[in-house]
Amino acid sequence: MTSTHTIEWFRHASPYINSHRGKTFVLCFSGAALTSSFFSDLINDITLLSHLGVRLVLVHGLRAQLDSTLSAHHIEPVVVDGLRVTNEQTRDILVAEVGKARVFIESRLSMGLPNTPMAGAHLSVTSGNFITARPHGIHHGVDFLYTGQVRQVHATALKELIEQGHLVLLPPLGYSRTGDVFNLLSEEVAMQAAISLQADKLIFISEHAMVDSSDQPIREADPDTVETLLDKMPPEAPARLILSKAATACKSGVNRTHILSLNDRDALLKELFTRDGSGAMINADHYEHSRMANISDIGSICTLIKPLEDDGTLVHRTTEQLELDIEHFRVIEREGLILACAALLPIGDHDNASSTADHSCAEIACLVTHPDYQNTGRARSLLAELESHAQKQGISTLYVLTTRTNHWFLEQGYKPAELNDLPATRLSSVNRQRNSRLLVKVVGKGCWESI
Ligand SMILES: CC(C)(COP(=O)(O)OP(=O)(O)OC[C@H]1O[C@@H](n2cnc3c(N)ncnc32)[C@H](O)[C@@H]1OP(=O)(O)O)[C@@H](O)C(=O)NCCC(=O)NCCS
Repeated sequence: MTSTHTIEWFRHASPYINSHRGKTFVLCFSGAALTSSFFSDLINDITLLSHLGVRLVLVHGLRAQLDSTLSAHHIEPVVVDGLRVTNEQTRDILVAEVGKARVFIESRLSMGLPNTPMAGAHLSVTSGNFITARPHGIHHGVDFLYTGQVRQVHATALKELIEQGHLVLLPPLGYSRTGDVFNLLSEEVAMQAAISLQADKLIFISEHAMVDSSDQPIREADPDTVETLLDKMPPEAPARLILSKAATACKSGVNRTHILSLNDRDALLKELFTRDGSGAMINADHYEHSRMANISDIGSICTLIKPLEDDGTLVHRTTEQLELDIEHFRVIEREGLILACAALLPIGDHDNASSTADHSCAEIACLVTHPDYQNTGRARSLLAELESHAQKQGISTLYVLTTRTNHWFLEQGYKPAELNDLPATRLSSVNRQRNSRLLVKVVGKGCWESI
């Protein structure tokens, strides 16, 4: 990457930096991640997130370590219905592995050598008895012994620590009220911690590909869609566990779950700081939605329309003009970024609130889709929403002045018109030098039932 590209990338990351600051993320990585050659990159990225003001709870798995130590002791693992049966010996090995993993992770997070991304960093890592567990119990005659389930997450303590800037580390075990130690699924610990904290994001880093039953990658889905996909998946599908936890988290108040590949060393930063991300995202709210604009959108709208103002496609608007008109704009937003905008400007009362306002007509203006997101119907749907909105307001005639999208509007049912057909209040302010074409559409009652 050349330095210019790096700087451009950094500029584009700025809205994400702002939007992630002060947010709580629960980040869960598998035991395989601890031994992966990318683990030091993950540690660097965790440090960066912490320095950017993200509150982090880290949850680690130990499945790979447990399997390999059991095998070294010639102990055959017992797994029933996808869940390990944890006898006393296995539990003791788990406890030892948790200790080793904790020291390893803490040592990596304590590094601060010069000329490394960790230089000058100091992170306080805290671990403790934040998870109360209970036994999984006996199922179909099988006693799962020290395999447990999360009974309670001590969210108040966790919140206090992350607010003070501590990084909290949760292992895949919990303590019961009887003083026993239980083996837990790290995915469940992460999910329950995210729900209890009402985290902004739950992030899984996994060695398993998130694919549906036809082997197609899952990029973006809501929890209901995930549940439908799970119904079609075989019980042994590796993606099942994380997807089901992601869907439950999203249905319980965690807005977004991201599932990233352990094999992509840049996955975490790409997912959090670029528009399109890198992994699968399960979102509780509509990831992309359209809405009326508000004053806080002005900066993003300016960024979207500026290149088109500069090349003469759009008439230049001052920020003051945008502030006055902002309530008439509709935008398509994705993860806090504005991908498209359009305005429905009343004719007549837009420059001054005079009695010359003609409330039966309005102008469609400033219709723009970000170049990366064109040709997928966004402008068409924004226009249809504005037309429907116009009709509800009793507006019967819509005008549009355009220099380059004449045909596009013709395809949306607009008809060519003479400039003099414009209401006088608008005609007087038309810049005739632009030689724009005028198009018109009647959106009278009954025309928009199909919208
Ligand atoms: C015009 C514009 C808003 C369309 O956005 P979009 O989200 O890509 O639009 P849609 O996906 O709904 O429609 C895309 C279709 O319109 C076609 N199209 C795009 N621009 C066109 C144009 N200037 N003239 C004719 N057709 C055009 C595309 O080829 C595509 O056709 P297809 O569906 O047959 O493949 C976008 O190209 C843009 O931002 N242009 C620059 C700004 C501009 O000129 N705005 C109008 C000012 S009022």
